[in-house]
Amino acid sequence: EKAEIGLIGLAVMGSNLALNIAEKGNRIAVFNRTPEKTDTFVVEAGALREHIVPTKSLEEFVAAIRPPRPVIIMVKAGEPVDELIATLRNHLSAGDIIIDAGNANFRDTIRRFEGLKDSGLTFIGMGVSGGEEGARHGPSIMVGGTEASYKRVEKVLTSISAKFKGEDCCAWLGENGAGHFVKTIHNGIEYADMQMIAEIYGILRDGLGLSAKECSDIFGKWNKSRLESYLIEISAAVLKASDPITGKPMVDLIVDRAGQKGTGKWSAIEAQNMGVPATAIEAAVAARSLSSFKIQREAAEKILGLPGEGAIKPASRDAFIADLEMALLAGKIGAYAQGFAVMAEASKEFGWSLPMPDIAKIWRAGCIIRSQFLDDITSAFRAMPDASNLIITPAFSAMVKETDGALRRVVAAAVTAGLPVPALASALGYFDSYRRGRGTANLIQAQRDFFGAHGFDRIDGVDKHHGPWGSGLADF
Ligand code: 6PG
Repeated sequence: EKAEIGLIGLAVMGSNLALNIAEKGNRIAVFNRTPEKTDTFVVEAGALREHIVPTKSLEEFVAAIRPPRPVIIMVKAGEPVDELIATLRNHLSAGDIIIDAGNANFRDTIRRFEGLKDSGLTFIGMGVSGGEEGARHGPSIMVGGTEASYKRVEKVLTSISAKFKGEDCCAWLGENGAGHFVKTIHNGIEYADMQMIAEIYGILRDGLGLSAKECSDIFGKWNKSRLESYLIEISAAVLKASDPITGKPMVDLIVDRAGQKGTGKWSAIEAQNMGVPATAIEAAVAARSLSSFKIQREAAEKILGLPGEGAIKPASRDAFIADLEMALLAGKIGAYAQGFAVMAEASKEFGWSLPMPDIAKIWRAGCIIRSQFLDDITSAFRAMPDASNLIITPAFSAMVKETDGALRRVVAAAVTAGLPVPALASALGYFDSYRRGRGTANLIQAQRDFFGAHGFDRIDGVDKHHGPWGSGLADF
């Protein structure tokens, strides 16, 4: 019996995805460049072995799959993907589908999709979120490629995806790079979510002087209310853990220098490319980069000292902690509104027709940013599919009005104490700018016209587009 699908690359994510596919009763052929890995994989598969066809050569692998053959490749993003595609071109036949399930840059995905056209092969760029656990037991799956190629794999993919109240967290989102683009924005939002949680943790730890355990209790409590989400849940869990060697809270022993592999950065870059403000995401990416300047930060602290008052002494601690919860919710609304606005623009620019309610829908379970909150976004976009921004939908405009006072108080308290809250402050700045009909760019237009005769529009519609600036500064 032929396999329904094939998978190449049996590192952690690849093996977990393959086991998930097998577990759902789909016959799967697997191949790995080093054959020993295939052997260990088969042993570890245990009872799932009956659904797995291990192969030791690409000829054997290809022959084992039912045509048109869908082949998932799960190798390191970048060069290795191009190399593998070049090799597979010589083994696959017209109609076969190469599916890149790694964290590719969607611009590479578009290039690969186009590059394969003349060979008759098709290409799917598939965003997979949920980490190792997700891959094994139910990830969120964001598919880009031709709709026909998706139809060939839909059954297998929906069988392995996470479910939210019985609905599949897997969807075809558009042609070529659509799936990887949406995964990139997912990661940009992931960065913002994580950074804002870390900023609130900073206020609790350094502003209020709470222990890791006390912070854990607070996050744990929030996870039972409107902030309920995977990232809040794991934050509570990690803050509670103790180091087995010293017995101290584990987080207190971890160097405050965060890594990044690029996807968060790509969403900020693409937002800038399209002229869509995604300030909370940008701030989160920059904050990660700044975290890596550990040595410079320590040196600067010696030279400049710590700013502000340090401690926060609220009149009511409970009321302030309640404010922190609402501030986090408000910040989150800002980050998601920005992420969705970037997707709306990209949809036009790349001709994708990205289905906003469906994107929110497939993020409700399985992925790293999964939360109850995404169900509210799904409903908001279903009720108002053409909303120019999430924050003007009835449900979210009400939420902004309800929570932005808390965000303002928290940002103000943090600034006074000298505690950095770049992502939260960016979200607040975004709300404040976005909701203000009359801004201050009239002055910028005047400056541009002064130094470069760039012209401006007048509010009275008079057809005169340059100011009375005279010949230079001397006139004033
Ligand atoms: C996911 C994650 C995952 C990503 C990690 C690490 O959705 O499962 O986004 O794909 O690789 O979160 O990303 P960084 O190394 O950039 O933090």
